[in-house]
This record gives sequence, structure tokens and C-alpha cells, in this order.
Amino acid sequence: MTGYACVADALAEHGLAVLPDFLGRDETERLAAVCRARRERFARAGVGRADGHTVNAAIRGDDVLWLDDDDPAAASVLARLGALQDELNRSLYLGLARLECHLAAYPAGTFYKRHLDQHRGEDTRVVTIVLYLNPDWREEHGGQLRIYTEEGPHDVLPVGGTLVTFLSDRFEHEVLPATRERLSLTGWFRRRESGVL
Ligand code: OGA
Ligand code: MN
Repeated sequence: MTGYACVADALAEHGLAVLPDFLGRDETERLAAVCRARRERFARAGVGRADGHTVNAAIRGDDVLWLDDDDPAAASVLARLGALQDELNRSLYLGLARLECHLAAYPAGTFYKRHLDQHRGEDTRVVTIVLYLNPDWREEHGGQLRIYTEEGPHDVLPVGGTLVTFLSDRFEHEVLPATRERLSLTGWFRRRESGVL
């Protein structure tokens, strides 16, 4: 079974899939280099949307840079994620229309408190994906993604190349503080907004 089919199976069965080595070391390092080259353009991430949108370091402390669908520096990774979207649509009929994603950098000591990825009154974020860009990350660096499942908390270390996917409306999760900067590409496969063709 391909990695993408494994992700689809695990999502169907558990609502959650972790795929180590979605990216090889070279590709992970290339995308981490894109983050470093653009680091000055990252902006403090907010919480809430529209009128309720505020920056609040007591809730989340990451900096983000949104990625365009056709960003040439991320083209090969976006193509793989596009193939994953196709596989999820083929095997799970999720009707995913597009991937909205950003690069994220958590400076050492920052975190993102427990939350759900769907904004209130909105259900077009269907699947959350997080792809880690940290080669040589070790347990003592911290920075785990803690996902609250029915069976209890499940921690994922943000090791470079690892892809985490989960159903956006199903799991609360949080990012624990790390001892070094923690990089990722984070995004959401979305359904089309209702009423929009
Ligand atoms: C988020 C998020 C998890 C991570 O950006 O909404 O929960 O591991 N990120 O970076
Ligand atoms: Mn989240």
C-alpha cells in the first residue's frame, strides 16, 4: 500500500494518521531553508477570525507566512499534498476542494494552547495537516503536538519529514513549548464553501 493509501485508511479508522518520512531529508531541509530565507516576512499568528481576530501570546506564540498554491519554492511538496488530497477524495469521498496552508515558526519557549481547528460556525476545514521541518529533533527538545483522543493524549514529536493528519472537527490538540525554534508547514484541506460553485 502506498503511504497515501495508509493515511486514508488510518483517517477512516481512527480519524488520525501519522506518517514518518513523508518527506526525505533533502526535501525537508530545502523547505526549512525556505522558512529561514523568508523568516523576516513571517507575522505573529492570531486567534479567532474577522472581528474576533487578535494576537494573544498566552494562547499561541507562533509566527506564520501563508503560502500561495503556486509558490515555486514549495512546488514539489504542494504536489505531494495534492496527490494526498486526490487519494482522500477517491477513497473516502471527502470532497476536498483545496489546501490552505502556511509555514509556521514557534520561537523557543512558545506554544499553542489546547484548541480545535474549526472556527465557530464554520465547517469547511475538513482535514488538518502538519508537516514538520526539523531535522535531528530529539525528545529533549520538546515541542510535541499533543492530540486529545478518546483513549487519552497522543504525543507526536515534530521530527523533520513527519506528516500528521487528522479530522479538523474531531480532536482538540496543543503544541507544547520547545527548547529550540520549531518549524512546520501547517494546513487544512477544505471543502468548498456552501453556496459557492
Ligand atoms: C495549528 C496547530 C500543530 C503543530 O497551527 O493549528 O495546531 O504541531 N499546529 O504545529
Ligand atoms: Mn491546530
